[in-house]
Amino acid sequence: MSKHDTSDLSWDDFDEMRDPRADANGFDAVVERAIGRRGFLGGVLAFGSGAAVFGSGVLGSATSARAQAAAFDFAPIGIATDHEIHVPAGYQWKTLVRYGDPLFAEADGAYNDEPGLSVAMSDKIFGENTDGMETFEVDGRQVIVVNSEYANPKINLPAASAGTPANADEVMMLKNIQGVTVMEVSGTRDGVSVVKDSPLNRRITHETQMTMDGPAAGSDLVKTKADATGMAPKGTMNNCGSGKTLWGTYLTCEENFNGYFGTTAEKEPTAGEKRYGIGGSSRYAYEVYDERFDISKEPNEPHRHGWVTEIDPADPTSAPVKHTALGRFKHENAEMVQAADGRIVVYMGDDERGEFIYRYVSNGTWAEGQPTDGLLSDGTLYVARFNDDQTGEWLPLTPETTGMSAAEILVFARMAGSKVGATTMDRPEWIAANPLNAEVYCALTNNKNRGVKPNAGGDDTAVNGPNPRETNNYGQIVRWMPSGEDHGSDDFAWDLYVMAGNPTVYDNAYAGSPNVTEGNMFNSPDGMAFDSKGMLWIQTDGDDSNEGEFAGQGNNQMLVGNPETGEIARFLTAPNGAEVTGLCWSLDRKTAFVGIQHPGGSWPDGAGKPRSAIIAVWREDGATVG
Ligand code: FEO
Ligand code: CA
Ligand code: CA
Repeated sequence: MSKHDTSDLSWDDFDEMRDPRADANGFDAVVERAIGRRGFLGGVLAFGSGAAVFGSGVLGSATSARAQAAAFDFAPIGIATDHEIHVPAGYQWKTLVRYGDPLFAEADGAYNDEPGLSVAMSDKIFGENTDGMETFEVDGRQVIVVNSEYANPKINLPAASAGTPANADEVMMLKNIQGVTVMEVSGTRDGVSVVKDSPLNRRITHETQMTMDGPAAGSDLVKTKADATGMAPKGTMNNCGSGKTLWGTYLTCEENFNGYFGTTAEKEPTAGEKRYGIGGSSRYAYEVYDERFDISKEPNEPHRHGWVTEIDPADPTSAPVKHTALGRFKHENAEMVQAADGRIVVYMGDDERGEFIYRYVSNGTWAEGQPTDGLLSDGTLYVARFNDDQTGEWLPLTPETTGMSAAEILVFARMAGSKVGATTMDRPEWIAANPLNAEVYCALTNNKNRGVKPNAGGDDTAVNGPNPRETNNYGQIVRWMPSGEDHGSDDFAWDLYVMAGNPTVYDNAYAGSPNVTEGNMFNSPDGMAFDSKGMLWIQTDGDDSNEGEFAGQGNNQMLVGNPETGEIARFLTAPNGAEVTGLCWSLDRKTAFVGIQHPGGSWPDGAGKPRSAIIAVWREDGATVG
C-alpha cells in the first residue's frame, strides 16, 4: 500500500489508523461496570413484545393523544446476499441516475471505466457516492439536491494510478466529483428522469466559492493567506447527511472533512487538531498538490470545514453559506423544526465514537413569508446530556459555561461540549423528527470501542444510559421528547426505540430489544427519515458479511418502523457491498428516491465497474409511497 492508498478503509478506520487510541480499560473494570449496571439495563430494555415502546415507558402519557400511525402497506421481504436490489411484491424500481451520468449535454458519453473522467467534464456529471438528499419545488419544477460524500480512487482514477492521485489534474478530478448536485427531475414512477441542461442544474465542489456567517465568521481562527477576511471559504467537502429549511433551502452537512488535510512538514499537533483528527497524510494526497490542504502552510483551512452549509436550489448563481453558529464537528445531518414560540431549532449529530448530539436554537422567530435573516447565524448551540434515569438536558455552550470565546466555542465545539459534561454517544448518525408530534430519533450506528477504549468526548464512563452495551457492533436508536412537547424546552425524556442485535446468536442484550426478530434483524442504523404518515424509514450502513455476529442479517437494507407499536419491517435490500443512504420523495409522493452508495460487484449495470446511484421506487398500483 502506498502512503496515500487508504481506499479500502472506512472513514472511522482511517481516523483510527492516523490517531490510534490506547486500550485503557482493564478487563476487571469492564466486568465491574457491566455488573454494576445490570439493574439499569433491565429497566431500559423492558420493552414488552409487541407493546408500544413509548406507551409502556416514561413517555406514555405525553404520546397518548398522538394520531394513530398507519400500518405497513407492504409485505416485508427477506434478507439478500446478492448484487441486486429487492423491494416488496407490488413495488417496482429503476435507476434514476448513476455516478458519471451527464447533467449537461456537453458531458454526454464523458463517463468511462478506464481511464475515467476527464478533468474538464468532472464537474458536469452526477457526482460519486450519493448520500443525503431532499426534494424541492422551484417555480413548478421538481428539484433534487443531493450530496456526493467522498470519492473511491480505485474506481475513479486510471488503473495506472493504483488508487492514489498521480498529479494535480487527478486531484482536481477527485475534488470535482464530490460535493453537491442540484438537478431538475421530471415525472414520477417509471416516467421519472433527470432533466439534462435544466437551468437549475448545478455542481458544487471542493472548489466552489462560498461565504460564512455567524460568530466564528471573520474571526482569526478562520483567516488564511488566501482569505484575510475569514469570510470567503472555498468548497464544501465530505457532504454526508442533509436537511431542509422551513423556507425551502438545502442544508449540506460536512462530515469527515479532517481526512482531506495533511502536512508536508513535521508538525506537533495542536489540541484542536488532535480532537478533530487532523494531521499526517490526507486520504487523497490533496496537500501534496494544493497548499490549501497542507496544515503546515494553512493551519486555519481545516477550521473552514466541518460546518452546516446552506444552498439555495432556486438560484444557481448563489454562494452557499457556511453557518458557524451551528458548530463545527463531523456533521451527519441537520433536522430543522420549530419551537412553540416560533424559534428555529436544528438537531445535529457528530458521527464519531464517543462524540455528542447538539441542538441549535435561534434567537429570532419565524413564520411563513417572513424574512430569514439571522435565523441560522444568531442563536445558541447546546449539547445533550442523557441521564441514566431517562431524563436529559440541553447544556448551553456559552463563554460563561465553557470559558471559551464565542468563536472558539463554535470552531472547537467538541471541546466546549466536553467542558460542560455532555454524554458520549455511540456515533450519532441521522436525526429525524416525527412530523406528528414532538419526538426526535437519533441513530447511534455502532461503537466497537465502547467499554474498550476511552471515549473521545472525555468522560470516563464505559457505558451510559442510551449507550448501554460494551463492544457495540449493532447500534441502537435513541429518541427523546422535549418537555411540554416543545422543541424549545431545555429538558427532555428519552428511551431507546430499538437496540439492534442478533437473536439467533445471542440471548442477552446483544440479541437486541424485543422488537428485533429473526425476520427483521439488521445492524448499524444510519440514515433515517419520517414520511408524511409518521412512519420512520431506517437505512443501514453496517457489516453485510452475513457471517458470525451478523449471520442472517444479509446485505444493508432499508426498513420501516412504526413509532407507536415499535414494529419494524424490512422494505428493501441493497446490493452486497453497498450502504443505503439518502431518502426523499417526489412532490406527488408516488416515488421514493433511495441512495445506493459504494455498491460492490458490477451494480447497477451488471458489467464493468460498480457505480453509486439513486434509484426510484414506486407502487404498481400508483398509490403513494410514504
Ligand atoms: Fe457519512 Fe456518518 O455517515
Ligand atoms: Ca451516514
Ligand atoms: Ca455510517
